[in-house]
Amino acid sequence: MSLGPDEFDLDPTLCHLNHAAVGPWPRRAAEAVSRFSEENSRLGSLHYPRWLATEHRLRERLARLVGADSATDIALAKNTSEALSIIAYGLTWQPGDEIVGIAQEFPSNRVVWESLATRGVAWKALDLDGSADPETDLFALCTPRTRMIAVSWVQYARGLRLDLARIGAFCRANGILFCVDAIQGLGALPFDLSRADVDFVVADGHKWMLGPEGLALLYVRPSLRHTLVLHQFGWHMLEHSGNFDRRDWEPAEDARRFECGSPNLLGVHALEASLAVIEEVGIEQVWRELQLRTAHLIEGIDRHGLELLSPRSTERRAGIVTFRVPGRPAAEIYPELMQRRVLCAQRGGGIRFSPHFYTPFEVIDRALGEVLSLAAH
Ligand SMILES: Cc1ncc(COP(=O)(O)O)c(C=O)c1O
Repeated sequence: MSLGPDEFDLDPTLCHLNHAAVGPWPRRAAEAVSRFSEENSRLGSLHYPRWLATEHRLRERLARLVGADSATDIALAKNTSEALSIIAYGLTWQPGDEIVGIAQEFPSNRVVWESLATRGVAWKALDLDGSADPETDLFALCTPRTRMIAVSWVQYARGLRLDLARIGAFCRANGILFCVDAIQGLGALPFDLSRADVDFVVADGHKWMLGPEGLALLYVRPSLRHTLVLHQFGWHMLEHSGNFDRRDWEPAEDARRFECGSPNLLGVHALEASLAVIEEVGIEQVWRELQLRTAHLIEGIDRHGLELLSPRSTERRAGIVTFRVPGRPAAEIYPELMQRRVLCAQRGGGIRFSPHFYTPFEVIDRALGEVLSLAAH
């Protein structure tokens, strides 16, 4: 199936290179939301069971995307930060426990672990600058007191991709939990829980999955589900959630136990439609197309004498390409690019471009052209 820019409604004057921040919705997601909105205003919740069927389809799509055994292993959280907090405050820590992570992480994947200092837990962070082999350096930080390695699959600022299978194997061999913030990779490249041997996976849908903000995947390895202490309670997380008359209660056996109240069905309709696009193209194909685009971008960066800050090796790359313009600080260039309708970000000491599988090559060339004209100033 050939899917490309036609699935998107992007303004042709815009160069959208910002999927690592907030991705655009495919047409289908916008249409699903319009239909949902119309239905709400005309029929209210008459077809609520149909909405729940859409929610179930979303869980199935997310389960396939991460390689989970069942849709019932997938919980829907508000966002990545909430999902990480459910894990951090669900686990039982002992004073002196350690969590190993990365110093340059996005704040959500740092502060939650640092906040556990009040319980005597230490967050030890690898400085990526000067680390030629981040996995080995992460392992070197681990001690017998290390309970968890918590990292992003792909670093948000410069796009370094970690070898999850290698970290997972180390964690398994050493009795360490493994928590992955997958927001900068899911929807862009294939992920496989069984290969990566990950205990916890979290990711909001608004970046590479092309969904709305405010709806995130929370996967907890089923054998660990019951070890997480719950801190949010309500009707929806109960085993017998539909029986409001029942006075005795217990949390649901499945991952729904992490969802305390009414689901975000508006977001569900959007993200389900967005993931339908990704599944129809196929995640392997998405990844192949994305690699062609990042390679094209890097080739342009090299050819024009810009300084690549992202990893050069294909094993280390994902969809993020960050670069510097010699002689012009990113803080100067960034607002000018945005003014010229090049939607990008200022991250990691440079300009971050993040195309997706459908991004026309012409858009990449046009954006690079704008960079070059600014560089010449
Ligand atoms: C690595 C990483 N984690 C989390 C987030 C966002 O977290 P949330 O879904 O809580 O908004 C981002 C957004 O840039 C990110 O890059």
